[in-house]
Amino acid sequence: MLIKEVAEKLNTTARSIRFYEEKGLISPKKDEENDYRYFTEKDLLRLSTILALREVGFPVNEIKVLLEDPSMSIQQYLNIQRSALYEKWIEMRDMIETIDEMVDRTTEDSYLPKDFYALAQHLKNLKSIRKNWTDRWNFDQQASDYDENIKKQGFSFNVHEGYDQALARIVEKTSLQPGNTCLDIGIGTGNLGSKFLQDGIKVIGVDQSEKMLEKCKEKHPQIETRKGHFLALPILDHSVDAVVSSYALHHLPDEEKVIALEEMTRVLKPNGQICIADLMFTDKVHREKVIADFQAVGNQIAIECIADEYYADRSLLTNWFSNCGYQIESYQFNRILGMIYARRHK
Ligand SMILES: C[S@@+](CC[C@H](N)C(=O)[O-])C[C@H]1O[C@@H](n2cnc3c(N)ncnc32)[C@H](O)[C@@H]1O
Repeated sequence: MLIKEVAEKLNTTARSIRFYEEKGLISPKKDEENDYRYFTEKDLLRLSTILALREVGFPVNEIKVLLEDPSMSIQQYLNIQRSALYEKWIEMRDMIETIDEMVDRTTEDSYLPKDFYALAQHLKNLKSIRKNWTDRWNFDQQASDYDENIKKQGFSFNVHEGYDQALARIVEKTSLQPGNTCLDIGIGTGNLGSKFLQDGIKVIGVDQSEKMLEKCKEKHPQIETRKGHFLALPILDHSVDAVVSSYALHHLPDEEKVIALEEMTRVLKPNGQICIADLMFTDKVHREKVIADFQAVGNQIAIECIADEYYADRSLLTNWFSNCGYQIESYQFNRILGMIYARRHK
């Protein structure tokens, strides 16, 4: 097929096709005498993939790597691109909401510079929180041994005491129906999400760690895995019946936990449920008491572990939920493991 025909068939221009050739993405055969290019069926398929990836925002250089790197599948690349687009989309939404606020506070001939500045600072802070979260714990490295490590007993501080009980309680409490969609955030190797599969529930697992997602997919191919973040979920608005999460939220400081709860609310359907089991204290006084108890018995490891992460103050989370119109129930399995169940009524 000649370039003109190809361009017509794929709804593009000869110029774009020559551009991809110059960039080394395609190399159709060329007639040395007249410089005509001849495209085979295989060239056409490759070109249509390039055009499709360009359409969903892939830069040309990334497409080249993707088509030539056998170590990563197209699905993995698409997953990465999807998260990147969701992050951009969420950033744009925040910017639009800020402009809406500015417009609301402006009359035809006056505005308050102080208000504008405060709104802009808030936006700047949000952007920086979303960008700056880093995985200090290196979950990619933990993925292969994670399931074995959580079974180990005999540590002076065992954060996984009550793990099985908490996961079972989440499933029991949410009591989802066949055909419902459940989102597990920080899914890790899929220990919680997979418990919903037998009931005919669609499970989407989000995690920031590529290796955790690989492990999860290997163990539970039915789970749909998506690379993404608590603070910018790669999920459309109001599209899931339940959000669940176990042992993950405590990797976010309190200020970020609130943004995570807002994200959960965004993706939840009306009447949806959120159930979180995690390392948490009932409140500030409880935290101080538990730490004092560890100090009294000289358990320095426990104190250091608690200081290294962001165990929640359950009362702050339940306040947030009730202010947002959720009905809440909460439990404490032991001195460090708690659960919040919240149901939305609109
Ligand atoms: C301790 S593991 C728990 C895994 C699983 N939920 C379980 O109960 O076994 C924590 C998981 O949360 C993920 N995670 C931590 N912070 C996250 C964040 N900000 N966004 C998305 N995932 C996160 C980690 O990558 C890891 O897979």
